[in-house]
Amino acid sequence: MAKGKSTVFFCKECGYESVKWMGQCPACRQWNTFVEAPAVKSSGSTGGISSASGAPSAVPVRISQVDTSTENRYSTGFGELDRVLGGGIVAGSMVLVGGDPGIGKSTILLQVCANIAKDRKVLYISGEESLRQIKMRADRIGAMPDNFMLLCETNLNTIDAAIRGCSPDAVVIDSIQTMYCETSDSAPGSVSQVRESTNALMQIAKGLGITVFIVGHVTKEGVVAGPRVLEHMVDTVLYFEGERNESYRIIRAVKNRFGATNEIGVFEMCTDGLKEVLNPSEYMLEGRPKGEPGSVVVCLMEGTRPILVEIQALVCRTNFGLPRRTAAGVDYNRMNLLMAVLEKKAGMQLSGCDAYLNIAGGLKVSEPALDLGMVMAITSSFRNIPIPDRTIVFGEVGLTGEVRAVSQAKQRVAEAVKLGFEECILPAACLKSIGNEDRIKLTGIKSVSELCRR
Ligand code: TYD
Ligand code: MG
Repeated sequence: MAKGKSTVFFCKECGYESVKWMGQCPACRQWNTFVEAPAVKSSGSTGGISSASGAPSAVPVRISQVDTSTENRYSTGFGELDRVLGGGIVAGSMVLVGGDPGIGKSTILLQVCANIAKDRKVLYISGEESLRQIKMRADRIGAMPDNFMLLCETNLNTIDAAIRGCSPDAVVIDSIQTMYCETSDSAPGSVSQVRESTNALMQIAKGLGITVFIVGHVTKEGVVAGPRVLEHMVDTVLYFEGERNESYRIIRAVKNRFGATNEIGVFEMCTDGLKEVLNPSEYMLEGRPKGEPGSVVVCLMEGTRPILVEIQALVCRTNFGLPRRTAAGVDYNRMNLLMAVLEKKAGMQLSGCDAYLNIAGGLKVSEPALDLGMVMAITSSFRNIPIPDRTIVFGEVGLTGEVRAVSQAKQRVAEAVKLGFEECILPAACLKSIGNEDRIKLTGIKSVSELCRR
């Protein structure tokens, strides 16, 4: 930082700091993201590497001698959330919970606090709601243990003192965008404030071994508002997804230093808070039409868990020169690609047709195993022939119309058996990995044209 300068420029996307304004950020290549903010007063360090004589000594240790036996995990009280976190909360970790406004971030954290507070001390700090508001919400959710403490505060210096004063095991910061540090002069929610506040909280978390949950608002583009740095600093980033008019919510780990990131947790918003959905497949398939063309059930994997979803297609002759195509919950480009494959490899005249594709229930899916389901739904609607409703499909489709193997075929078939399906259409290459299966009829196929001849 230049001497004597009282303001610097930050990139809104990645937090890159520069002494002058720039059109494009050299770090993340985004345009028009620089905002001016007061310079952050660095505390302590003078910068640069001090001479060897004055430096405190640091001794490297052998990796085999690092003690991991004390990794201290505890449950959130929700099996679904524990799985997403990689087996429970790690003491001293920092978890960022992001999501659209009103999706249920405060609600789930209040419930988690209530569960943890049964045998631990918890402090819930809100910068958005008053004590009364929080209490009213807590009353809807149910009984709150005595070890659950509340604080309405936005000044991090006061918060720091409060945390040290009551030494809780877990702290919730309801919205990092409302917090501010006195060391930085810019407004709460600005890039440098969010950065400073997270830094201060990190020192508290790591120094005292307290688990800190941070709520972060999400911008229209789907990233946590404020700098991306926030995501780099914390240990775990969870995103809350779901449609406003649907009652189910999905929690997904985007980053996790203590577990895998492909797991999801499914919840339902009820009048008394969020409830776990233990069998999402049944939930997703509720109210499925029987014997209608254009509907088919696909088996997807979310992490280690199979989920069955219904995919629906509507293909009809276009009234205009340019066919209309829309995709909800699936990738629009993938849909166009698969329709081109069908046109070329199966001789279907789709270029004169409007096509609409939708995942029932509002789930968003990006797995390649969905391809075969899309192909079958489109074909079924185009030909007006229903697919038997006890049939399930999965498989990836390549550009030459070949049907390719997907991973974890055995688990997918097992889930289909569990829910009473009678036939499974799958890539022929997957048959070997499944072995003998007499509870369901397995039909292996090699190409799209073979499927369409059936
Ligand atoms: P909230 O947790 O305040 O959202 P966020 O903190 O992510 O902004 O969620 C509020 C929404 O949840 C609100 O629209 C009402 C709904 N809700 C219920 O349906 N049932 C409940 O028991 C609670 C507490 C909230
Ligand atoms: Mg909230």
